[in-house]
Amino acid sequence: MTKALTFLGIESSCDDTAAAIVRRGPDGRAEILANVVAGQAELHAAFGGVVPEIAARAHAEKLDICVEEALTASGLDLSDLDGIAVTAGPGLIGGVLSGVMCAKGIAAGAGLPLVGVNHLAGHALTPRLTDGVAFPYLMLLVSGGHCQFLIASGPESYTRLGGTIDDAPGEAFDKVARLIGLPQPGGPHVEAEAKSGNDRTFSLPRPLLDRPGCDMSFSGLKTAVLRARDGVVAEKGGLTRQDRADLCASFQAAVCDVLTEKSRRALETYLAEAPATPTFAVAGGVSANAAIRSALEALCESQGVRFLAPPLKLCTDNAAMIAWAGIERFASGAADDMALAARPRWPLDNRSPALLGSGKKGAKA
Ligand code: KG4
Ligand code: ZN
Repeated sequence: MTKALTFLGIESSCDDTAAAIVRRGPDGRAEILANVVAGQAELHAAFGGVVPEIAARAHAEKLDICVEEALTASGLDLSDLDGIAVTAGPGLIGGVLSGVMCAKGIAAGAGLPLVGVNHLAGHALTPRLTDGVAFPYLMLLVSGGHCQFLIASGPESYTRLGGTIDDAPGEAFDKVARLIGLPQPGGPHVEAEAKSGNDRTFSLPRPLLDRPGCDMSFSGLKTAVLRARDGVVAEKGGLTRQDRADLCASFQAAVCDVLTEKSRRALETYLAEAPATPTFAVAGGVSANAAIRSALEALCESQGVRFLAPPLKLCTDNAAMIAWAGIERFASGAADDMALAARPRWPLDNRSPALLGSGKKGAKA
C-alpha cells in the first residue's frame, strides 16, 4: 500500500492546450478525474502546419481556462492536490514556456510541489496509466511528431532502440494526403481511401530495411509517392479516384511493412532481456490506423507478446499522461523547484545519439 496521490497535469508543448487531474490510489491504480484538451487545429489550418508563435499565444490564453475546467470537472480544488506536473519539454519552446510559467505560478500560489515532465515520458508511461503494465515493456511512439522505439524500465529509465531520422510517419501521411488533394490531418483520409485501393499498383520503397537496427526514414517514401503521382498525371492528365486509392494503399502498405519489420527487430532486442510479462504498447495518432495496428498485433501474437493500444484520446497529446508521469516521478522521490527550465530538446535516453529529425511539430528527441 502506498499513499494516494492526486496531481494536476499541464500540457502545452505542441498544438493542444491540456489540463487533467489524475489520482493514484493506495493500490497503485490510476483514476482520471478530469481530462480537458483544447485543440488549436483551426488556428493553424491556413498555414499547413503548426505556427509556433500562434501556438504559444493560444496556450497562454487558454491554460488557466483549461486548469479551471479540469478542477471543476473533478470536483476538487487546489487544496486537494498533492502536486503540479507540467511538460517541461521537448516541444515548441514558446508553448512549453507558457505551461511551465503557469505551473510555477499555481505551485507557488498554492504551496504545492512542482514536477517537470518529459513529454515523451508522458506518452511512454501511458500503458501504466491505462493498464498498470509492469516494467520493462517495449513502446512504439508513432505520431505526427514522434517516431521511436523505447524500452521503458522505470519512470525515468528508457533505452531508445531507434527512431526516424527524418519525418515522423504521421507527417508522411499528412504530406501524402496533401499531394493527392485529401483534407488534413491526412492519416484517417489516406486510410479510408486505401480500403478501396490495390497496394501493389505502385512499387514504393521500404526505406532503411536493408540496414540493421531500428532506425527509420519516411521522407524518401513521401517523395516516391510524389513521383508516382506525377507519373500518372503525365500519362493521363490527372488522377482518377482509383489512382488515388491505389496510391494511398501502396503508401500505407510501405509504412506498415517498415513499422512491422522494425518492430520485429525491436522486439528481438527487448525479449533478449527476458521480461516476465512481455508487452508491446503503441501510442500516438498513427496507432489509430487499423492496418498498422493489426499488423503489429499479429506480430506480437506470433511472438507470444501482449499487444496494447491505449484508447486514442490517451494516445494523442493530453495532460492526463503528464499528471500520471508527474505522480510516478514524485513517488520515486523526484521533484523540481522554481528553477525548472523549459527545454526545446530533451532526449529520454541520454546515452543514445540525438535523432536528426525535427518535424513540423517540433523536436523529436
Ligand atoms: O498523436 P497525434 O494526435 O499528434 C502528434 O503528432 O503529436 O498524431 C497526429 C498524427 C497526424 O499526422 C495524423 O495524420 C496521424 O496522426 N493519424 C493517422 C491516423 N489518424 C491520425 N495516421 C494514419 N492513419 C490514421 N488512421
Ligand atoms: Zn506527443
